Amino acid sequence: MTKRLFDTHTHINSDDYTGEQRSALIARIEASDVAYAVDIAFDLPSARQAVRDAQENPWCYAAVGIHPHDAETLTDEALEALRKLAWESKKPGGENAVVAIGEIGLDFYRDLSPRDVQREAFRRQIRLAKELGLPVTIHDRDSAGETVEILKDEGLLHPGAAQRVLLHCFSGSAEQALEYIGLGALISIAGPVTYKNNKKTVRVAEQVPIEHLVIETDAPYLTPEPFRGRPNESPYVEYVARKIAELKGVPYEEVARATCENAKRFFGIST
Ligand code: NI
Repeated sequence: MTKRLFDTHTHINSDDYTGEQRSALIARIEASDVAYAVDIAFDLPSARQAVRDAQENPWCYAAVGIHPHDAETLTDEALEALRKLAWESKKPGGENAVVAIGEIGLDFYRDLSPRDVQREAFRRQIRLAKELGLPVTIHDRDSAGETVEILKDEGLLHPGAAQRVLLHCFSGSAEQALEYIGLGALISIAGPVTYKNNKKTVRVAEQVPIEHLVIETDAPYLTPEPFRGRPNESPYVEYVARKIAELKGVPYEEVARATCENAKRFFGIST
């Protein structure tokens, strides 16, 4: 059977895994309906691991970047190391291993790095993405719209913009989602859409046209129902697709096909 799903945001590189656990996880992904996954970095060591995962597994690609929590680690040397990783890393067939800069953005909920440091690290990495011609995967938590304002200010979001911004685990309202897709953003839906009482994300999934949606796990976090409570993993992205299919009243196969095509186009994957 042809595999159908694209998990646009996962952390196979998580330092929660031992080498053995990572191999077992990879085997479970290979036995699932997941055709592609992007392994997303949160700091420099995880960026290096994501590149290794992408080089070792044909279905895996990497995003490299420094998470807002770790914004203080974005020194000049770290930025240079990210540039080199993104520019030089190839898969065995010669294809680029790095398909995006991420996850980057602002997190004023946990405030683990000072806000000014977060803003500066975010802008520097957006500029790196533009310089390299790569799209960005965005983490936005409680920034009161500032994340989007910076993306607008840096020229990545505007009416008629090419799709270069993926809003990971979108948690805003349907109205905001519709506004952002009008500026060229791609909306990514994660496990919380399956949670009881999460009416907000349900409305986003209902109202955003399928051509502007992608799906993700953010594994090992945000496990969808019916597995909530255990660690998440890429194969569970199927439950996000099934929920969207139910909400939109379309077949699962259609959600799988459309979100996979959207993600391939966004990340520039042609295989
Ligand atoms: Ni993440």
